[in-house]
Amino acid sequence: MKVALACILFLSGCAGPQSALDANGPSALALENLIFLFVAVCGIVFVLVMGVMTWALLRRATRPPGGLQTERSMGRVVAGAVVATFAVITFLTAASFYATASLDRAKANPAMIVVRGQQWWWQFTYLDANPAKTFQTANELHIPVGADVRLRLEASDVIHSFWVPNLTGKQDLVPGRENALTLHASRPGVYRGQCAEFCGLQHSHMALLVVAEAPEDYARWLEAQRGAAAAPVDGDAAAGKLVFMSKPCAACHTIRGTEASGTTGPDLTHVGSRSTIGAGLLENTRGSVAAWIADPQTLKPGNNMPLVPVTSEELRQLSAYMRELQ
Ligand code: CUA
Repeated sequence: MKVALACILFLSGCAGPQSALDANGPSALALENLIFLFVAVCGIVFVLVMGVMTWALLRRATRPPGGLQTERSMGRVVAGAVVATFAVITFLTAASFYATASLDRAKANPAMIVVRGQQWWWQFTYLDANPAKTFQTANELHIPVGADVRLRLEASDVIHSFWVPNLTGKQDLVPGRENALTLHASRPGVYRGQCAEFCGLQHSHMALLVVAEAPEDYARWLEAQRGAAAAPVDGDAAAGKLVFMSKPCAACHTIRGTEASGTTGPDLTHVGSRSTIGAGLLENTRGSVAAWIADPQTLKPGNNMPLVPVTSEELRQLSAYMRELQ
């Protein structure tokens, strides 16, 4: 039955990089099984109820209403139905409790990454015992395949909800409170996630990507991200750096290795290595970076990035610099 349902879901397009029905981790698998269990149990109950109702309607038409005898047997039927309902609900409650208990399955492990919900982007802080190795990035989470990665969930402003359906269930990010979640990817891949709690105007543009990669690739990525930004090589990019530092950009963003150390917006040290900008809004190309700087409020109305007046020449240089921050 599960195979048949999975085939229907696959053909209907419900399998993919953002689907709770295409599990790639133990917590997601527990939840996927729970979904199939609920569909199966509720389907059986539906068929039974419809069957009994049809039988009762046909029977009533052919037999006259009875006396005390009928009332007694009806009492037994009602009592049986109450007991069956109670048993089914208790069973489903226990099953869903068991499945959701697996969301934070690596409780013994210390948190590896702090996930902070911001209006409307994701801030990721990769922790390390050595503070010099701790770094921040945004909207793109890299994790090693086959390992439990424990996340600490926090929020800066309002309640958000972290949801990467292929890997795990939802968990809220609540201001003033710390929640935890375990991510575990069984297979390499790029999984899309989405804020799952309405958090304001751009709630629908608060996406993230989880890149699950082989441990050696992950180690390489980690090493590259820990490093400071390389000095720009290209002439346009070098000029773009000067523009960035002379404008209000540097007051809101950090680029490690330069004087830019603002903390309001995403850390841009390696922004060029990410595949999207604006929390999944646009593909990360030089053109979309230029469009974003030129008019962030039209692309994502209400976000915290102000319009910084720049000339077309400066825009060209800034976008070259952003793309070089690999
Ligand atoms: Cu953050 Cu919805």
